[in-house]
Amino acid sequence: MNIELKPLKDIDTPIKVLFTGYLTTVAVGYFFALIQILFTHGMADGKFGLSVDDIVYSYYGNRSGTLLETKLNGSMKDKAPENERFAIMQWIRDGAAQSSYVSSGVSKIIEDRCVMCHNEAASGIPDFTKFENIASVTEQDQGATFSSLTRVSHIHLFGISFIFMFVGMIFSFTETPRTGYKCVAIGMPYVFLLVDILSWWLTKLHPMFAWLVIVAGMGMAISFAFMLVTSLLEMWLFDKVFVDNQGHRYPAWSNYVENGLARIGLENPADLFKKTACLLQHSFLYVWKQWIVYGWPGVKNGINAIKRKLSK
Ligand code: HEC
Repeated sequence: MNIELKPLKDIDTPIKVLFTGYLTTVAVGYFFALIQILFTHGMADGKFGLSVDDIVYSYYGNRSGTLLETKLNGSMKDKAPENERFAIMQWIRDGAAQSSYVSSGVSKIIEDRCVMCHNEAASGIPDFTKFENIASVTEQDQGATFSSLTRVSHIHLFGISFIFMFVGMIFSFTETPRTGYKCVAIGMPYVFLLVDILSWWLTKLHPMFAWLVIVAGMGMAISFAFMLVTSLLEMWLFDKVFVDNQGHRYPAWSNYVENGLARIGLENPADLFKKTACLLQHSFLYVWKQWIVYGWPGVKNGINAIKRKLSK
């Protein structure tokens, strides 16, 4: 087969169908991912809808309570009626002792309402047929565990980078955005993916970083939507969307943006970008030099001092 690199609008219809099928399926997948986030993280603070609190509770934990309480007010709220959830919470407040686990009736409630899912066969959720697993969710809620974060991090990094590989590849055959903007749109999801994963770990350490989770998620969604819409429009509606009835190309949206920026004194946004990159490079080099000159020798002296102390 002879593969010719043509712009999206000129490729053969079967390939267009293939690309469209892939993009649409991924978009639907994205939609379900959002719904899933709404139902798990979105319910973390007990109220429907995603908020900063949800993210803090999910990763940092609700440190004034226990995971079991957080879940009973959140994503497990509909798993037991009010009075039974109250009985469980009462038992937790009384110290969640093993001695009162059966006598308080909590063990019966868990067996009736929870064990159908939380059993030995379930993977990824605690097995409530063993008391030690109940005990571990009645300790202070520390949010996501390191092991669950490690698991989800690697799955996300491998899975999502693949999705953006193909979305980006299809988008790279578009012709309406200029090369610079294309590079940004293709690179952005990867940057935001890394920032996203990093921000989970940072939020685990400090709730302040919950904002970063939101920013990274939005950045990824925006670049995804931009690539998806541009690719689909160029494949199927090029003549209607990008050219006027004389066959002339409409000015690209980036022209409007750049004209707007020029009006407020930013002649060339690319310059701004380059200047920022240059500044970052210089500051990085500066920090690196400081580290080599002062930081590392200091650390080495420290280590040597400790070694000397230990060997005495
Ligand atoms: C229909 C199946 C199902 C039932 C019934 C169910 N759960 Fe869950 N549970 C899940 C799933 C799936 C998760 C993981 C998603 C989440 O955290 O929301 C989970 C997570 C949890 C967690 C958090 C575990 C962790 O380590 O993050 C707790 C605590 C919990 N459930 C408690 C309960 C209690 C208490 C009941 C009974 C009142 C119950 N669940 C009933 C499916 C169920």
